Amino acid sequence: MTFEKHILCIGAGYVGGPTMAMIACRCPRYRVTVVDVNREKIDQWNSDELPIYEPGLDEIVRAVRGKNLFFSTDIPKAIEENDIIFVSVNTPTKNYGVGAGMAADLQFWEKTAREILKYSKSPKIVIEKSTLPVKTALAMERILNSNHHGIAFDVLSNPEFLAEGTAVRDLTSPDRVLIGSEETERGLRARDILVEIYANWVPRERILTSNIWSSELSKLVSNAFLAQRISSINAISALCEKTDADITEVSRAVGTDSRIGPKFLNSSVGFGGSCFKKDILNLVYLCRHYGLNEVADYWEGVLKINDYQQDRFVLTMIDAMFNTLSGKKICVWGFAFKADTGDTRESPAIRITKRLVEENALVIVSDPKALKNARADLCGLEDRVSFVEDPMEAVKGCHALCVLTEWDLYRHQDFEAVYASMAKPSFLFDGRNILDHGKCFRIGFNVYPIGKPPMTHFQ
Ligand SMILES: NC(=O)c1ccc[n+]([C@@H]2O[C@H](COP(=O)([O-])OP(=O)(O)OC[C@H]3O[C@@H](n4cnc5c(N)ncnc54)[C@H](O)[C@@H]3O)[C@@H](O)[C@H]2O)c1
Repeated sequence: MTFEKHILCIGAGYVGGPTMAMIACRCPRYRVTVVDVNREKIDQWNSDELPIYEPGLDEIVRAVRGKNLFFSTDIPKAIEENDIIFVSVNTPTKNYGVGAGMAADLQFWEKTAREILKYSKSPKIVIEKSTLPVKTALAMERILNSNHHGIAFDVLSNPEFLAEGTAVRDLTSPDRVLIGSEETERGLRARDILVEIYANWVPRERILTSNIWSSELSKLVSNAFLAQRISSINAISALCEKTDADITEVSRAVGTDSRIGPKFLNSSVGFGGSCFKKDILNLVYLCRHYGLNEVADYWEGVLKINDYQQDRFVLTMIDAMFNTLSGKKICVWGFAFKADTGDTRESPAIRITKRLVEENALVIVSDPKALKNARADLCGLEDRVSFVEDPMEAVKGCHALCVLTEWDLYRHQDFEAVYASMAKPSFLFDGRNILDHGKCFRIGFNVYPIGKPPMTHFQ
């Protein structure tokens, strides 16, 4: 079969894999290849056990893999054979040198640009899918156009807005697709080619175009706004706990204002994931670079509140459990940074578990999908931390149970049986406010939600 377009994605991670599976699924006339330097990951993409868990992803990959979706480690060949190249490599926070702890580490991204340059024998459209600091496209263009073979490269920005856990739904029906291009004749022509790809399933009015710098910045700003809402409601949850107000009631009252809206107003132990923190750090770094220190301080506050919320959660536990956790068994339900993913990057559960271990507690971690990652995150703490997938088994004999991920299965446990199996007095710390607190209190638990008065049996 001859294909209309040959599309490549470099980087087979949480973004590259699902986005390309969606393009292949919606565009059977295009041949889509995904490459990665990580052989194990590519082998997993080619197997029955995909490297990431996303509801609905297995079915899509199974339907198109080997037909018009291919996973490979042969990067030179793939670059040579494809004329539209998405770059979806990781852009973590830099942990060395200038900008350490703040700026985006662009080493993987730059290496990719140099590989594209090295192996290209014909013109390419190169699309930034990774989240990048503003003006990165300019650097990419400079590297690519430093070639002496007269090959033309057009660089577009097409940031990804999918959320882990709902990636398939988000990709099937995105709120918007954003495409930034140079406003030259060539840039606009390249942009139209990408618009045409998405128009196979995304309504035209949801495909937004902009200049390339607005597109790069919009991704950082979207994540900053989302994280800011979480930190805003979490900041208020601290005030609720001091004043006997109830954060759920406050959220409802605030969120029914149509100008504000109800989403992202659940208080919790805070946000995690690979993106929010790193993208805000990146934004803060950019602001400082341009001398906008007040703006930088404003956004840095979002991260401070997030750490504060997690530390506050641990302090509440210590305070509630008679000022010592030493030798006590604490069960953690949920280690993923959110429900419906196995991803634990920057998960609040990491910081909280480590703090509990510092207090000499024995922690039993349970999660339906994230235990492999949890083991890696807590490597070296095996004498204080154990891992048990079955939540009922994990909680047996524990002094306290804390819920750190909003997995649906935790709502539906038999809490009479949970209580019966635990040491007394039994403590329940609901870091996601997903349980029926009144019912748990009546069963006998001392219940500590977030942003609400605790319910205890003590005088
Ligand atoms: N994870 C999300 O929810 C999400 C959402 C939107 C945007 N993003 C952004 O998308 C980008 C990718 O994120 P991710 O979560 O998919 O990362 P990831 O770590 O899951 O995947 C990145 C992949 O790139 C590969 N890679 C690195 N250098 C390479 C090279 N030179 N050649 C080939 N492969 C290479 C890595 O091996 C890895 O498999 C990041 O910039 C991130 O900020 C992520």
